[in-house]
Amino acid sequence: MSEFCLGIETSCDETAASVLKDQTTVLSNIVSSQFVHSRYGGVVPELAARAHIQLIVPVTKAAVEAAGLNFSSLSCVAATCAPGLLGALLVGLPFAKALSYSLNIPFVGVNHLEGHIFALRLEHPQLSPPFLAAVLSGGHTELLEVKGWCCYRQLGSTLDDAAGEAFDKVAKLLGLPYPGGALLEELAREGKPTIRFPVPLQNTDTMDFSFSGLKTAVLYYRRDHPDARHEDIAASFQEAAISEVTNRITRAIAKTDLNTVGISGGVASNQVLRDRISLLGKKYGFRFLVPRPEFCTDNAAMIAAAGIERLKLFGPSRLNIPARARSTLADNSV
Ligand code: KG4
Ligand code: ZN
Repeated sequence: MSEFCLGIETSCDETAASVLKDQTTVLSNIVSSQFVHSRYGGVVPELAARAHIQLIVPVTKAAVEAAGLNFSSLSCVAATCAPGLLGALLVGLPFAKALSYSLNIPFVGVNHLEGHIFALRLEHPQLSPPFLAAVLSGGHTELLEVKGWCCYRQLGSTLDDAAGEAFDKVAKLLGLPYPGGALLEELAREGKPTIRFPVPLQNTDTMDFSFSGLKTAVLYYRRDHPDARHEDIAASFQEAAISEVTNRITRAIAKTDLNTVGISGGVASNQVLRDRISLLGKKYGFRFLVPRPEFCTDNAAMIAAAGIERLKLFGPSRLNIPARARSTLADNSV
């Protein structure tokens, strides 16, 4: 008999709900982005929590309806419990627990980063570990060896800004609204990468990332070259940021015997990055996988996908698990 898992995601500024049939069939995927933050140039946690409170019920109802189901057909409910903005997590998490309690179905708490990894399986149902995963989002930049489902070895992570944060901050410097990553990519299409911004940590064998020096280099370049075309600055920054990612992936492939690379998270929807890693795959002989853009950015289908697997491997989570602002996949204790 089919399993229908409701996923709920409220870790940042997207209120999302999705129903998954079995492990990889997405019956509905509703994402409501909160535009209230745009005028502040970043996410305002208090406003995010308030917006989640307003949106969580209609978004969840819409997801169940769009799946052609009613609540009584659901077999489990999964929600993001960490990492993220506490006030935001504390909307979706208790909501999901209450649903599970009232419907008498299992509840599963999911790590948001694990959700991003499972987005790869939504797109590529045959995918099986081991593989190398790079989670490149607005809040996180992680390079992981996925040894088995829900079993990870962290190879590297960012020492300062996350990849998406760097895109957003540079986009802001160029006068683009928040979140500016996708808009910066658009602007870069009209420009040429003629400015050589420094790519950090080039001459070491670390698998960690650093983006804040690059952001500062763009800031100083703009100050010293007020007439420079924004399109060229965007294209040059994007080139350097992409090199930072591709360098680490190449390094990780050389150091491990992995032959599949998956990227996910909002930055993975960047087409130039996708093309570049795809080329690298041909050169170095690895298979390259990436979800479609709506599964790269925050969504609840990926949370349901991770939740179903967790339920299978470890059983339901306890109803008293806390929301946590910080959590790595190494402390895999949800
Ligand atoms: O995964 P995500 O939706 O949320 C987090 O978990 O943080 O990622 C959002 C991030 C934002 O920083 C956004 O600017 C960035 O992903 N992003 C992009 C692109 N689309 C979204 N960055 C570069 N190029 C894009 N096309
Ligand atoms: Zn995310």
